[in-house]
Amino acid sequence: MLHQAFGGVLDAGDPAFHRLLYAVWAARPGISDAHLITLISAAVRDIALREPGTTALFDVPGDATARVHALVELVGRNEETLAKELLGRSNSFTGARRFLVPQLLIGAFAAAHGIDEVRFLDLGTGIGILPRQLNNKTVYDRFAADLTWEPWAPDYHVIPLAVRYGVDAHPLPTMDWVRACYGPSPYYEERFEELLWSFEQTADVEGDVVIRELDMLDLPRLAEFIRANRFNVITCNFVLFQYGEHVQAAIERCVMQNMTSPGLFLTMNPSHALLRPGCRVRGRLVGHPSPLHLAEAGDAHLLGTVTVGTDLPVVIGGRRQAGGG
Ligand SMILES: C[S@@+](CC[C@H](N)C(=O)[O-])C[C@H]1O[C@@H](n2cnc3c(N)ncnc32)[C@H](O)[C@@H]1O
Repeated sequence: MLHQAFGGVLDAGDPAFHRLLYAVWAARPGISDAHLITLISAAVRDIALREPGTTALFDVPGDATARVHALVELVGRNEETLAKELLGRSNSFTGARRFLVPQLLIGAFAAAHGIDEVRFLDLGTGIGILPRQLNNKTVYDRFAADLTWEPWAPDYHVIPLAVRYGVDAHPLPTMDWVRACYGPSPYYEERFEELLWSFEQTADVEGDVVIRELDMLDLPRLAEFIRANRFNVITCNFVLFQYGEHVQAAIERCVMQNMTSPGLFLTMNPSHALLRPGCRVRGRLVGHPSPLHLAEAGDAHLLGTVTVGTDLPVVIGGRRQAGGG
């Protein structure tokens, strides 16, 4: 609904909205369309959550003309604030269930390779939920009940975590900003409640999780950070799709060249640039030349079904067949 209203604002030739778009494209030439549209929605929602009387924007189905009008007004009143958020922030939507896949893959990878210390880094960690959740069986069991693996599921292993790091860009996302990145529907309210619940459930490891500001686009700094901390497992979920392909490739190269061996780099990205649900899990092993297709989920919130990818055995060793021991 809100996305259609943006179309209406563009068609109406609203000068403030056009100024904002050109400012973003000038300052962030690598930004993908999928990221830009979700970022604008989050920035508008962030303001609307604080401004009374903007409910017409989110009324479903609502009056489309009223929505366009309300949006033009909001943009006009808040052009400066919007410019600041669109230039300085990223979409930091995060899902409480996303860790279900890394938990199994990292645990099985460590077991298969006899790794007794996992030095873990989550790139673009957002509010830092994933590094907190790893090995939390209470959170895992609650969410795993709603995810079916096809045709077989990797076994659960406790990950031998030695360190847990997460990095994100300046300014580090706050819970208020993450909330603004959630859509205004009962479905997203429920997802956000899950995030808050997970955050509370994992409070016991807060002191073990190190969250740092680091711009992944600063490749020399990223390389130095990875080398200095001898990371051997790195995840990067729902971040790379925010950039064009050459930027994605440069980040991936930097990670692979600087990780400790044996090492695993896992990425999760929307399967269809956010146009349809679903996400794809890919991996790289240090010293292994090609990207590996590890899993495909029908829903990027990791509800429903996840299908094992053809290359998963390369990462976690001999596969356990459905019904096997
Ligand atoms: C959509 S969120 C995903 C959060 C989390 N990884 C997850 O999957 O739930 C993308 C995050 O990547 C971060 N990000 C984007 N570009 C970045 C960069 N150049 N350096 C560090 N973090 C970045 C954003 O700030 C944002 O918090």
